[in-house]
Amino acid sequence: MSFIKEQENYITNIINNLGYEVDNIPILPSGKRELGTFQLNIAMILAKKYHKNPMDIANEIVSKLDRFENINIANPGFINFSFRDVDVLKYLNLVLNDFNLLVDKHQEKLVFLDYGGANAAKALHVGHMRSPNIGEAMRRLANLLGDKTISDVHIGDLGRQAGMLISEIKKREPDLVFFDENYEGEFPKVNYTPSDLGEMYVKANLDAISNETRMEEVREITAEIDKGNQRYIALWKQLVDISLVTIKEVYQKLNCHFDLWEGELDSFKDVPQMLEVLNPYLYESNGAMVMDVKEDADTKEMPPLIVIKQDGATIYATRDLATIYSREKRFQPDEIWYFTDNRQSLYFEQVFRASYKSGLVRDNCKLMHFGFGTINGKNGKPYKTRDGGVMELGNLIDLIKEEITPKMKDGIKNKDEVIDKLTIATLKYSDLMSFRNTDYIFDLEKFASFDGKTGPYLLYTVVRLKSLLRKSNIDNFNFTKIENSEFLDIILKILELPNILNRSYNDKSLNYVTDFLFDLASLFNKFYNNYHILTEEDTTVKNNYLALVKLVYLVISNLLNVLAIEEVDEM
Ligand code: ARG
Repeated sequence: MSFIKEQENYITNIINNLGYEVDNIPILPSGKRELGTFQLNIAMILAKKYHKNPMDIANEIVSKLDRFENINIANPGFINFSFRDVDVLKYLNLVLNDFNLLVDKHQEKLVFLDYGGANAAKALHVGHMRSPNIGEAMRRLANLLGDKTISDVHIGDLGRQAGMLISEIKKREPDLVFFDENYEGEFPKVNYTPSDLGEMYVKANLDAISNETRMEEVREITAEIDKGNQRYIALWKQLVDISLVTIKEVYQKLNCHFDLWEGELDSFKDVPQMLEVLNPYLYESNGAMVMDVKEDADTKEMPPLIVIKQDGATIYATRDLATIYSREKRFQPDEIWYFTDNRQSLYFEQVFRASYKSGLVRDNCKLMHFGFGTINGKNGKPYKTRDGGVMELGNLIDLIKEEITPKMKDGIKNKDEVIDKLTIATLKYSDLMSFRNTDYIFDLEKFASFDGKTGPYLLYTVVRLKSLLRKSNIDNFNFTKIENSEFLDIILKILELPNILNRSYNDKSLNYVTDFLFDLASLFNKFYNNYHILTEEDTTVKNNYLALVKLVYLVISNLLNVLAIEEVDEM
């Protein structure tokens, strides 16, 4: 358990023993350092609830506190205090050997995470990075806090792009057995590269938008796949696998780990069973099969969910429902988290309601959608290339690289690898820095700067910390004293970490962690500028400084790992 949690429990216990009912009283950092480093506002809360004078309650509480120093009460009933240095130092010495003491684990759950969601045979554009960035960080944070997790990339491997590509192949190579209705043998392997697919898609798309017959063929092939046409499916699965090579490369660059590489196609086999469960609730509407998901308390419009289309085909929702059926059957997760952009919020609400209403999942399996905002350019509109085209994720990565490269020092080892890591750090840190739900403006120069609230600034701080540790030539770190006020600032910040992690977990937003990292790095760099760590002559003082360096490094490095940002040794 963390130090702060232990103190919160201690205080809660005291207050309960005084006859007040409360659970978990938060200890807050104090605004006025001279009055104490932490404070409680519980006396004011209790005063309202119990119709008493807050100062009286504060006095009652204070008379029982025997662990803290510098205890005082300020109007209208704030209790200020500082922790005893010995207690804090004893704890931090334990943390130096076990980072987990800075984390309050919660009761273990099985969380299933659905993020990534790339569409097969289509290029990833910038918007496609938020789901993997947020999802992967949430997976890591959940693990840190004690959850078991299963992650699934849920590839979008059904849809118009299948019809496009197959119709293009048919045009170019009509004699392939995939187009022979009477063919019954084994299917041969096709030899396209990912870039062939890109090129063919563009051609087909251009043709189809100007030629209705071609578009009709595309629709027909797409529908055939949905109906289970084995020849088209055999070809399409190969195309999906080819495009997965590129998709996997991108997710690897983004340091994402998926336990499962499933997709919409995989859910096909579960559609019949899913429909059996939903059947009592389905009715026909304009030829489609739909389900009502409205509830009495609704204030917003909640249209029925279309489960099967007019032509009998499945749609996105059919596949998501079948996927829920399969996940429930195989894993019985406590929670399923979906990370997509905000525009799918209503859709997921409908799907979740349909799942609960029909009993597709247990009532106590929490289905949760966490939406995110759009990435905009400086004009406030969705981020585009300079000539107004779609900004592909690959383009953005190249742009960041170009911005970073000239800033690199000469003569560093593995320069290319360092540049790559700085590029991804820039991308991830800026993507996680604003609250999940809000749109943000991608400001390349600002986000790639080595100064300020950026990925590179944090990595720069890590390089400094690591270099200090390397040069210190010690490997046994131990605190004996809080040496000065900058030193204290850093420690107080670190004591807050357990609450920061919980806040991020509860909101499924990493902005609290990115803020914390920046604050901690800034405090450390201030300390570094004011004191000479390696040349300090007093060995006791020097050892305390080095223990602090070690602690800050431990915290930053573990948090960067949560964000899936890799460290560098030089830059
Ligand atoms: N492929 C989808 C898209 O591009 C995202 C998939 C999200 N996950 C899900 N289970 N629907 O919008």
